[in-house]
Amino acid sequence: MEIQEAQGHGHLVLVPYPLQGHMTPTLQLASILHSKGFSITIAHAKFKSPKAFDHPDFNFLPVAENLSEHHIANKDRIAQVSIINTKCEAPLQESLTNLIKQKPQSRVNCIIYDTVMYCAEAVASNMKLPSIILRTSSASSFIAYCAILNLPLEDCIPLKESISQELVPGLHSIRFKDLPASNYFGDLKDLLNLLGHVSKIKTSSAVLWNSVDYLEHDSLAQFQQQNEGKHCFSIGPLHGMAPTASTSLLTEDTDCITWLDKQATNSVIYVSLGSVATMEESELIEMAWGLANSEQPFLWVVRPGLVRGSAEWIEHLPEGYLETIQGRGCIVKWAPQKEVLAHGAVGGFLSHCGWNSTLESICEGVPMICRPAFGDQKVNSRYISYVWKMGIALENGFNRNIETAIRRLMQDPEGQQMRQKAAALKEKVKLSIDKGGTSYNSVNNLVELILSL
Ligand code: UDX
Repeated sequence: MEIQEAQGHGHLVLVPYPLQGHMTPTLQLASILHSKGFSITIAHAKFKSPKAFDHPDFNFLPVAENLSEHHIANKDRIAQVSIINTKCEAPLQESLTNLIKQKPQSRVNCIIYDTVMYCAEAVASNMKLPSIILRTSSASSFIAYCAILNLPLEDCIPLKESISQELVPGLHSIRFKDLPASNYFGDLKDLLNLLGHVSKIKTSSAVLWNSVDYLEHDSLAQFQQQNEGKHCFSIGPLHGMAPTASTSLLTEDTDCITWLDKQATNSVIYVSLGSVATMEESELIEMAWGLANSEQPFLWVVRPGLVRGSAEWIEHLPEGYLETIQGRGCIVKWAPQKEVLAHGAVGGFLSHCGWNSTLESICEGVPMICRPAFGDQKVNSRYISYVWKMGIALENGFNRNIETAIRRLMQDPEGQQMRQKAAALKEKVKLSIDKGGTSYNSVNNLVELILSL
């Protein structure tokens, strides 16, 4: 992407939510805006800090929020959001006040915060600073979350089997079973509290989507219609627009690239469930045999802690498994995912359908097998399989059928068609980030807006 330097330099504070899938797009946005001439401060929770040494051009401002794993252990993800926001609000304000006192000459143009880190909006408002929201998930999943507010909650959370296949009124292609909270068993008060915070733009000046108009035109238009008069910019995929600095919170095992170099073109199925999703030991074992029996080479990310309630790594795999897959399977703790997906040997991605993984797969034209775990992932899975037709959704839980799904994707004509769809989407997305494309233009419009605040 050709970068135009902004004439009026300024200072932006970005506030990420402390999870890999949120940190990554925030840092990518920071890189884009830095390349446009802004100086950047990342104000982040000390808990799960980004790696400052990977981003020498940014200032990092750790917020003394006094959070640790034990505050959120055994809490569901939605309750965790509330705890993190409550703990971070006052220290974030204190840190920013000190920053401004120390550098009064460096005017903060605005605070850009991950929508889930909504305490930053209150801080910006208290400090009379403009703010902008970054939405790191898909527009379609956001619309689906908001739709929940207008539904009889007791019928759809947790989901009643009788309506699971029905389409949700007012949503494009989304069934009740695809709703982001349909498998939520936590406290509904927590869910409503979160939706109350994220569904409104409040005092913020604009909303940024890590998305592409071509991919989500209808949902983006629907959002704009619901928020008439508000600035909305779809500026994704951010990783395609940003110069490539590593944003990984974990250490990437690059040996798997050497292993990929030895595999045939489009032969490898890459398997990763992102940074948060967990599974039962029995599911891990089903997955292990599904991969082995598919007779396809595979690269599998098994995060330590992937099995629910355990910190172990491959100790859960069946005895003799590693010998069975020798030469055909490569298992790592964490992979350089973007490099993996860009590798010619990779022909499919078995994914939990986190939004970053989805965009990364589309950008490399890699068709997918969808095994969503929770939240937005179910909407993304529906889009990948039903709307964009570039993947297979594992509809009936997680069992050895995975072997069939891999064969369908990697060997059958049906999979070939999905590969072609993925390749076509890749081209469209590339056009959107090239000069004159929708995302390219939106970034320039965003810069203009920021300079006018
Ligand atoms: C979370 C939510 O689970 C997801 O639904 C939401 O859309 C974003 O926040 P996560 O589960 O981690 O994110 O998934 P995803 O959005 O796909 O992000 C994972 C990131 O980690 C990707 O950028 C991917 O490239 C990276 N990754 C993953 C690696 O670098 N190496 C790996 O081995 C696995």
